[in-house]
This record gives sequence, C-alpha cells and structure tokens, in this order.
Amino acid sequence: MSGWGGGYIVDIPYMTGWYRQQSPALLALAAILGGVEATVPQGDDPIHFLELGCGQGFGALLLAASNPSWRVTAIDFNPAHIAEARSWAAEADLPNVTFIEADLAVFAGEAAAAAIPEADFVSLHGVWSWVAPAVKAGILRLLRDKVRPGGLVHVSYNALPSWGPRLGMQKLLRAAGRQMGSRSDHRAEEGVKVLKALHASGAIHLTQPVSTGRLLERLDQLPVSYLAHEFMNENWAPCFMTDVAEAMSGAKLEWAGSSHLVQNFPALTLTEAQQAIQRQFDDPLMRELVKDVCVDTALRHDVYVRGARRISASERDALLRETSISLNISPEHLPLEAETPVGKVELNPKFYQPLVSALRDGPRRIADLLALPDIEGRRDNPAELVGILVGLDMAEPAARRAADPGSAAKRLNRVTTRRFLKHGNLNMGIGAASHRLGTPMPATLLDLIVGERVLAGDTDPARIADAIGVIDEQAAALRAVVHQTLEVRVPVLRSAGVI
Ligand SMILES: C[S@@+](CC[C@H](N)C(=O)[O-])C[C@H]1O[C@@H](n2cnc3c(N)ncnc32)[C@H](O)[C@@H]1O
Repeated sequence: MSGWGGGYIVDIPYMTGWYRQQSPALLALAAILGGVEATVPQGDDPIHFLELGCGQGFGALLLAASNPSWRVTAIDFNPAHIAEARSWAAEADLPNVTFIEADLAVFAGEAAAAAIPEADFVSLHGVWSWVAPAVKAGILRLLRDKVRPGGLVHVSYNALPSWGPRLGMQKLLRAAGRQMGSRSDHRAEEGVKVLKALHASGAIHLTQPVSTGRLLERLDQLPVSYLAHEFMNENWAPCFMTDVAEAMSGAKLEWAGSSHLVQNFPALTLTEAQQAIQRQFDDPLMRELVKDVCVDTALRHDVYVRGARRISASERDALLRETSISLNISPEHLPLEAETPVGKVELNPKFYQPLVSALRDGPRRIADLLALPDIEGRRDNPAELVGILVGLDMAEPAARRAADPGSAAKRLNRVTTRRFLKHGNLNMGIGAASHRLGTPMPATLLDLIVGERVLAGDTDPARIADAIGVIDEQAAALRAVVHQTLEVRVPVLRSAGVI
C-alpha cells in the first residue's frame, strides 16, 4: 500500500458511478420532508455544488452538464481519479466543473480551499466511514468554512448496528487478502474466496443474520474495484448515526432527513408497534436510532443543514406542491405494489395510474398532478406522492419542465457512451445528464446508445444493433432488445428531456 494514502487504498481506481441520493434536488426534498426550509433547484439558479472524495468524478460531471448555470467543484486525493475526471470534462467540453487534487485531511485552510466559494450543496458519498479520524477532522473543518448558511450536506456511511454482525467478515476479508495478494483488487478477490469457503462451511458469523449470508453469497459478483475500496481500507469503521450527528454539529450542521427519501416515512419503514415506540421521542436523532435498531440500513444517506429554519406542515406542503417531477418508468409499468423496508405497499391504481399517465409527455408540477380531475384518493398529501414516486425510484425531480436537451448534457452523454462501451455491459446502470431534470436520469448503457442514435435521427433497430456489433449468433437477440428499448425506454428518456 502506498504511503501517501494514510491507510486508504490508492493503488487501484474506484468504479465510476452515479448515486441518486447525492442529487441536490433530493437533498432539498429530504430537508423539506423533514420540516426544514430548502429550495429544490430550478431554472438557472446559480448554485455551487461541492463534492468531497469524488472518485473519478462522474457524479460531478453529470450535475455540471445538466446545469450549465451551476458551478461544480470536486475534490479527491488520488491523482489517477482527478486525471481521469479532468480528461472526461475536457472531452465533453464542460467549463463549469473543476477537479482539485487535494488531501481532505489538510486541505481546509490552504489557499486553494480559500478560493472555493461557499457551497449550496455538498456531497460526501462513500467517504466518511472509510477514512482515518484525521481526514474526518479535515472534512469537518472544510464544511465549517465552506457550507453557506442554509446549505445542505449529504453524508453516506456504513451504519451501525446493521454492520455490527458483519465486522468479522470485513476484518477477515482484509486480513486474509493482505496475506495472499499484493495489489488491493487482488487482495479483495483472495479475501472474498476465503470468506466464501468459510461461508459454505457454515461459519456462524458469516451466515447469521440472514442479510450477512445474502451479502456474502453475492460478493464475488460485485465489481472488484468496489470490493477493494469497500473492504481493504485500514481505517474503515461503521458508525452510529447519533455519533455522526455529534461530529457534524462541530461544523454547525444539524440532521434534517434522509436523501433515501422513503426512509423519511415511518409508515414505510417501521411496523405499527415500532412507530409507537419511536413516537415516544421528540428528539429526531433518538427516532433515527430507534429506526436503525429496527431496520437493516447498511448504508445511510443523511442530509444535514447549516442553520435549520423550521417550517409548518402547510409550508412544507406548499413547497412540495411547487416541485415538478418526471417519470423514470413508462406509465404502463406502474407497479400495483412496491417494496419498502416494512414489506410491500399497495399502490391504489385509481390514484396513481391517471397521475403517471399525465406525466407521459413530460414533467408536471405536483400541484397540477393533485388537481387532475380523474384521480381517486387524497389530494391533500403531496408528501406521500413524493415519498412513493420519487422515494421508490419511479420519478425524478425536474428543474426546468420545458427545457430542450441541453448541448452540454448531450455532449457528456455522447462521451459517456463512448467511454462505457469499452466495458461492454449494455445493461449496466449508468445515468444520463438532463438539462430538463437538472439531475441525472437513471439510464443503462443501452438506453444511452439508443438515445444517441435517436437524436441522430436513426430509429431502425437492425441498424442500431448492427452498429453496436456483436457476434452473429447474438445479433437477433440484440435487435430485439434494441427494439424494446426504442418502444419502452425512448419515450421515457424523451419525456425526461434526455433526448
Ligand atoms: C468509495 S470512494 C467514493 C467515490 C465517489 N464519491 C463515488 O461515490 O463514486 C471514496 C473516495 O474518497 C477518496 N479519498 C479517500 N481519502 C481521501 C482523502 N484523505 N482526501 C481526499 N479524498 C480521499 C478516495 O480516493 C475515493 O475516491
């Protein structure tokens, strides 16, 4: 392991990905649902988004391309990450994103840090529970200096008590891997092999609880760069949310909610009996602690605010009503029930079907959706609508309802497609930039490829499939899949303004 990593692995890059819980729009919705005043970005608001520990910067690139009026700053200490992110930004010609190579342990207070403007939104995804105490202290100094009053911060981390029963798994994976390999990815692979063999032998701490066993069963299907960054760091330590909240208070940050939006709804996360116990506490942190003991939340996505301005339920509803949303699914695929932490919830088709049908041609304001004449159900509960449609990944917030696919977003999507094609997995979930949404749209590599062809005026499945190019035996299957994408996904991408 190189000396400069301070215990964090630096010999192989982290995988490239977009994680929707980092989206400023979701951070704002989380705060509003938690009764804290926030603005869901819209129009050409001049927003500064700051990402700490940005990896290869794909999330920062997507947000910059989706929002040319924003300024995006992203920091990582691994020069290989920053070199890749900068070359990607240059290829897509994005002038509004800056990648800085810096160690967060010491960055705050440096001249380069002083030059960064106050941030409206900050995201630290996959960093907090993986880095040394000195890095956490440096992050807190930076947050104290750089988050604007009223600004929102996203922090994701491995949470306790969920990770408690898996401590042995991480310890053994790392220790065994270090004995058997030299580079972090090889070490992770070797460690996983040992764990799988022990799991098959019935090792009690690898088979119980059930969720640990399930995680172990699919460990070897996960990308090895993920495994290495997840398990091979010296200072990895899962945290209780109350301890993270205590640390954040040092930067004047107060917990406001979860950007995994469904987590903000007790009825969707806890049983009746658990909710009754949770209600005994009016301290929101105690309520979260109760929840974390009841639900298996391995990765928390917390949203903090610097200076909470509390709003009433009616002010909250008014803010939600002004928010616009866009569909992620085709209206025909509205599920009759959805999976939540407490089990399946039924979706009333007489309420949700007309509503998603109205979203077919593009984003709509929640106020307009709730005023549709043909819906049967509660029109006075915009929070539930957001919780179900956005919280369960069926819709995204939309910043600019009528905007065309922006030229920066189109450029980035083109470059992204070319870069991901090297990996070859057409079903890989990637994410597309969208000027209309202002937040990335979930999309697979195939969605991006087909979308690009459609933008170029080509809608012939055979020609598109042939251009992708596979061996002859697979050509018919690929044409069928492309045809399906043209029928089902292209209208969704169009209504989200990606194409
Ligand atoms: C698990 S990765 C997450 C990357 C990115 N946020 C994502 O989700 O794709 C954690 C990142 O934190 C960076 N990192 C770790 N320690 C750091 C430090 N002391 N200063 C700056 N970046 C650091 C790593 O290089 C790595 O890119």
